Amino acid sequence: MAEGSVPPPRRQRGERFPAALLALAVLAAIGFAVTYLVTSNNTQLMGLFASLGLLAIGAGMIVWAKRYMTPPHPEVEPRGRLASTEDEVEAFTADFEVGEFEMERRGLLTKLLGAAIAATGLAALVPFLSLGPKPGESFKKTKWTNGKYVVNEQNERVHTNQVGTNAVLTVFPENEVGNALSQALLIGLRPNELQVVPGRETWTPDNVAGFSKVCTHAGCPVGLYQAQLGYLICPCHQSTFNVYNACEPIFGPAATPLPQLPMAVDTEGYLLSTGDFSDPPGPGFWDQDRPG
Ligand code: FES
Repeated sequence: MAEGSVPPPRRQRGERFPAALLALAVLAAIGFAVTYLVTSNNTQLMGLFASLGLLAIGAGMIVWAKRYMTPPHPEVEPRGRLASTEDEVEAFTADFEVGEFEMERRGLLTKLLGAAIAATGLAALVPFLSLGPKPGESFKKTKWTNGKYVVNEQNERVHTNQVGTNAVLTVFPENEVGNALSQALLIGLRPNELQVVPGRETWTPDNVAGFSKVCTHAGCPVGLYQAQLGYLICPCHQSTFNVYNACEPIFGPAATPLPQLPMAVDTEGYLLSTGDFSDPPGPGFWDQDRPG
């Protein structure tokens, strides 16, 4: 084949197909990123683009490998004369030129493959934009502080008279109604049955105890109270906490007790906290140092 001649059509077609697949992968990656930035929650469309991109890369590489990495048939060269004829020299020159062309095309494919992988990798980083600020200490501290009044769900201060024996009441810090991590349960204790933890002797004024309402297993609100037994039960996985023994878990998957709220009363008998819970509330993974 003479210099500058056009390579065989079949080769051209063969190169175009994997190139088109890899270009499709680049477009799919761009589509993924654009969908995320524009709609931010169209996960179906994002999944479609991600699948399309990965499929296109895989298919492009397979086609490429099949057409160029493996010979179409066994190569057999008969032993002949050592010296080349004029025709053989011409044929070699033509083959060499075809080879030069294919090397260029393969260079294009290599670039396209690199672009497809890079675009897909960059698109995969886009969802990291959704990460919020670091939680820091926010899981470990609540709104309970020294002198914070205890209020009911109507933000009304709670008097010890409102928590009779065996009663249970959901409460929050004043002006923080609805704060999930700070929600607590007040429980009216039967006198002289509480096993007081050393250091917590003054935490239950007028036999009213306060405990975190957030289950230490997976964070469900602990809402069921078996008053006769003094057991608080989490409805999610039935973790059971013994109120009269510092809310230690006695059944279920929770491994740590419900943190206790230190409380006092003001001169009129209204309840207020004297500090934060005895431990960070909620699941133990928020505070791995806590003994389990
Ligand atoms: S969340 Fe309470 S037992 Fe699982």
